[in-house]
Amino acid sequence: MKETIFSGVQPSSIPTLGNYIGAMKSFVDLQDKYQATYCIVNQHAITVPQDPEILVRQTKQLAALYLAIGIDPNKSTVFVQSEVPAHSQIAWLITCQIGVGELERMTQYKDKSAKQESVGAGLLCYPALMVGDIVLYDAKYVPVGDDQRQHIELTRNFVDRFNNRYGEDILVKPEPIYPNAGKRVMSLQDPSRKMSKSDENEKSKISMLDEPGQIIKKIKSAVTDSIGVVNYDTANQAGLSNLIEIYASLSEQPIKKIVNQYHDLGYGRFKSDLADLVVSVLEPIQKRYNQLIASDELYDILSIGATKANETASQTLARMEKVMGIRYR
Ligand code: TYM
Repeated sequence: MKETIFSGVQPSSIPTLGNYIGAMKSFVDLQDKYQATYCIVNQHAITVPQDPEILVRQTKQLAALYLAIGIDPNKSTVFVQSEVPAHSQIAWLITCQIGVGELERMTQYKDKSAKQESVGAGLLCYPALMVGDIVLYDAKYVPVGDDQRQHIELTRNFVDRFNNRYGEDILVKPEPIYPNAGKRVMSLQDPSRKMSKSDENEKSKISMLDEPGQIIKKIKSAVTDSIGVVNYDTANQAGLSNLIEIYASLSEQPIKKIVNQYHDLGYGRFKSDLADLVVSVLEPIQKRYNQLIASDELYDILSIGATKANETASQTLARMEKVMGIRYR
């Protein structure tokens, strides 16, 4: 039997090139080798304020994008988190077994809570839901970007603790899978920060639905340096190195080869070729996306996905409830 993988993306905005390179591209690459489950984690999105109508729209958009990038519903399970009740049920069981101190140490919590006027308890407890997402499907591997490292470590610690207390092999301990290139795609305007869906500066990020003209403009205006020679040097040429990583991921070429090719050609030529590459990857995805978003097929695929996910998830939930003593029949 194939080993299992699980991952998810929040429908908190249209995914960026960072989401694609850091995680979603791997979803497609891994679906032949593994039994894959991919979730649209809308319950994570509500840990910060959302406009309900926009959240619904973005949930459908993300589902269409999952399929448009090449996730095949005949191979992988694709579903919306809120359609599988075991996620919120298991999250409570896990919340009761995680320390507040452990949650407060999460850097994403610190970053996100600093930006909110009033912080909802969900923002703090969010990793418990994420632990639940992963363990529900007995996931052995979790393809994610580097910013999820701490949450995966928390999941691994939780599984150890849980299995020690309630019996070996109740939960599967997962391992992260990071992409070779682009595990942390940086902002095009400030290469010390990661490219983020929620960044208000549009020039800092490329959305997966940006038009070719926008993509070319954003890459041309990406911050570089005055050194003038194409090198991969994250300390002194952070902006350029970020662009090289994007190129390496999308072209599936080693960084060394790209540096050799562009070393003396100048930043202008490199940026222009990179922009063409990004457009050549995103344009066919957008074409498929436009067909899917207007079709009923999307709803059918998500219904089948939710049914399949429910079957697996409810079994894990029952196993956990039983050992914890809250299933009395
Ligand atoms: P989210 O929605 O913030 O991001 C989705 C995925 O994209 C990756 N990512 C990046 N990778 C490289 N460079 C970037 N600039 C970049 N920005 C984002 C993220 O690492 C992630 O893999 N908590 C998760 C969603 C989640 C999840 C899960 C993931 C919920 N449950 C269970 C895995 C397993 C999140 O907020 O991702």
